[in-house]
Amino acid sequence: MTIAPTPKIKLSSEPLFSAAEIATRIEDLAAQIDKDYHGREILMIAVLKGSFLFVADLIRAVKTPTVIDFVRLASYGSATQSSGIIEVRKDLEMSIKDKDVLVVEDIVDSGLTLESLRTMLLNRQPASLRICTLIDKQSQRVTDVPVDYIGFSMDDGFIVGYGLDLDERYRDLPDIRIVEGV
Ligand code: IMP
Ligand code: MG
Repeated sequence: MTIAPTPKIKLSSEPLFSAAEIATRIEDLAAQIDKDYHGREILMIAVLKGSFLFVADLIRAVKTPTVIDFVRLASYGSATQSSGIIEVRKDLEMSIKDKDVLVVEDIVDSGLTLESLRTMLLNRQPASLRICTLIDKQSQRVTDVPVDYIGFSMDDGFIVGYGLDLDERYRDLPDIRIVEGV
């Protein structure tokens, strides 16, 4: 793939969620997940690329035995808006049949990406299927896809950092910042 030339983009000078706030919130989520999955094994499915840092931190915070697999989805649309047409770029390598599956997402926005992933996974007959997202943009939702674990909720605005990108940039920031003027 080619990366577009750096456009003139301004990020908020203060993080929306600092690295310390993210770390604390992940500890809370992990405690909740450990309680719910007590005595079982979790099969985490991380949705690439956005959730790669989140899942790396989450899987280490969770004490329940966990195995991991990855899926890569692409949604047609602009850089900042999902179209709802989803393509599976990289499918899972593991069977999820009869497994306790926990999908780990970066952001649920319209919910269209997650809705189609959920339908695809349910067809493979897992024992259970839950969804964890770092960020919930509830006000943007156009589906009623259930989200079981939410790191942070926010309203409008486009954010980058801690795995989240704008045209592939800023995934490397340790905290989450708002893109100004989107
Ligand atoms: P949805 O299908 O509208 O729910 O889109 C969700 C996907 O769009 C997320 O998994 C992200 O990859 C991406 N996305 C939505 N909002 C943002 C944002 O503010 N920053 C970065 N990526 C975003
Ligand atoms: Mg995503």
